[in-house]
Amino acid sequence: MRTVLGIIAGVAALLLTVAQFGTAGWTKPPILANQHGFRGTGMDQVKTKAEAAAIRDANVAPAPAEKVEPGTDKAGTTYENVQVLKDISTEEFNRLMVSITEWVSPQQGCTYCHNTENMADDSLYQKKVARRMLQMVQHINADWKEKHVGEAGVTCYTCHRGNPVPAQVWFDAPSPTRGFIARNNGQNMATPSTGLASLPYTYLEDYLAKPDPDQSAIRVNATTALPEGKGKPIQQAERTFALMIHMSESLGVNCTYCHNTRAVAEWSQSTPQRTLAWHGIRMVRDLNGAYITPLTATFPPNRLGPKGDAPKINCATCHNGQNKPLGGAHVIEAYPELARNTAAASAPQEKPAPAPTPAPTPAPAPAPQ
Ligand code: HEC
Ligand code: HEC
Ligand code: HEC
Ligand code: HEC
Repeated sequence: MRTVLGIIAGVAALLLTVAQFGTAGWTKPPILANQHGFRGTGMDQVKTKAEAAAIRDANVAPAPAEKVEPGTDKAGTTYENVQVLKDISTEEFNRLMVSITEWVSPQQGCTYCHNTENMADDSLYQKKVARRMLQMVQHINADWKEKHVGEAGVTCYTCHRGNPVPAQVWFDAPSPTRGFIARNNGQNMATPSTGLASLPYTYLEDYLAKPDPDQSAIRVNATTALPEGKGKPIQQAERTFALMIHMSESLGVNCTYCHNTRAVAEWSQSTPQRTLAWHGIRMVRDLNGAYITPLTATFPPNRLGPKGDAPKINCATCHNGQNKPLGGAHVIEAYPELARNTAAASAPQEKPAPAPTPAPTPAPAPAPQ
């Protein structure tokens, strides 16, 4: 009897162990480990093969539209109310309209932005937003090429992915309801963007919304061996940590993709990607500050957040879980009209006014003795 029970128990234990592997959500082999930093520093990126394949499949750039023969007519002369894309040919303009529809509103079609009775009409807010988006995309590809987006560039699809509202947008966090804790210091609310930790949840507002917050706000590590002065409060370090979690999650990497964790603050021991990320932070501030926030009054109230702010961009809006959006595909190659600031280039070509006669240069002040 004992032996039979023993065998039954043994079999049950074995089955339970096997079942655990299937159900506990553990990371299962095969594992992919990519060495990223210097040898021996353990700066590896670890993923399962299945995870890596799922992320790759979820981030495929659509094939570009067929090239068209550009004619001689410019869109600015063919159509009535073209303001940004004036200087491209009518054929290229029409091709771009078809692509935009595929990128932003494939289900709704042209009518998402247009009153089809009169294509020149600007009464839909979507068209007004889209015009500003055209300028934003040109600005990203032209002015942030060297510092961030490189040859890959971005199109509307990088963020929109076939949706009028990109899946990854964020709003200012609502203030805590008045009552017991009228002021919670922006803490103790498990938000997904901070990895469900009770870290300060206002960090996106603090670091990514405004064009230029204090440049050193994110820096919390001491730069001297002994404290000289007051130092930064622990909340500041928590906010930095929250932002770092956001950046890691958005890019699908861990901290060692950018930092050598034995000396997190040290730039000389960081990877080149950390420098790209530094510029990325400045780019997101620029996009939110110069393009998205000024559109607040253009959006209908149902698009705004609990505090009445516009839906904003963060690292995940483009990156969507990958270190390079859309697997690093050079999406801008097939759309050169989105890679330069056409509005500025097509400003009325008037003869430059004669240069004013230069004022006499004041004699240099004598150098102090
Ligand atoms: C996501 C928004 C959006 C979608 C979708 C869209 N358009 Fe447009 N369309 C615009 C914007 C913005 C302009 C103005 C561009 C500018 O000012 O440079 C414009 C302008 C035009 C014009 C010029 C009208 C004039 O007389 O000024 C035509 C024609 C046009 N679109 C056709 C189409 C067609 C056809 C489709 C569907 C295949 C389409 N558009 C889909 C945003 C959109
Ligand atoms: C860097 C990311 C990004 C890129 C690139 C981008 N957009 Fe957007 N777009 C946004 C965000 C964020 C919003 C605000 C979301 C909302 O409307 O709720 C938005 C909103 C819009 C809306 C309004 C949708 C609605 O119903 O509220 C339109 C239309 C639009 N974008 C068109 C475009 C077009 C056309 C392009 C390419 C020329 C483009 N976008 C490129 C981020 C982006
Ligand atoms: C994609 C690159 C990237 C990833 C991933 C990343 N960081 Fe950072 N980290 C940066 C950049 C860039 C700065 C400097 C920001 C600035 O000065 O504006 C920084 C700054 C910091 C600082 C402040 C350093 C100082 O000078 O005081 C700490 C601490 C930090 N990161 C920790 C982390 C932790 C912990 C993780 C993982 C959860 C992480 N980082 C993931 C890029 C990254
Ligand atoms: C407007 C879209 C966009 C936004 C927003 C954006 N990025 Fe990027 N990022 C890109 C593109 C495109 C590339 C690919 C550049 C290339 O292939 O040369 C890239 C590349 C990078 C890389 C280099 C990856 C590698 O493996 O070499 C890092 C790091 C990075 N981004 C960090 C960030 C961080 C951090 C943020 C948020 C603060 C951010 N990015 C926001 C578009 C964006």
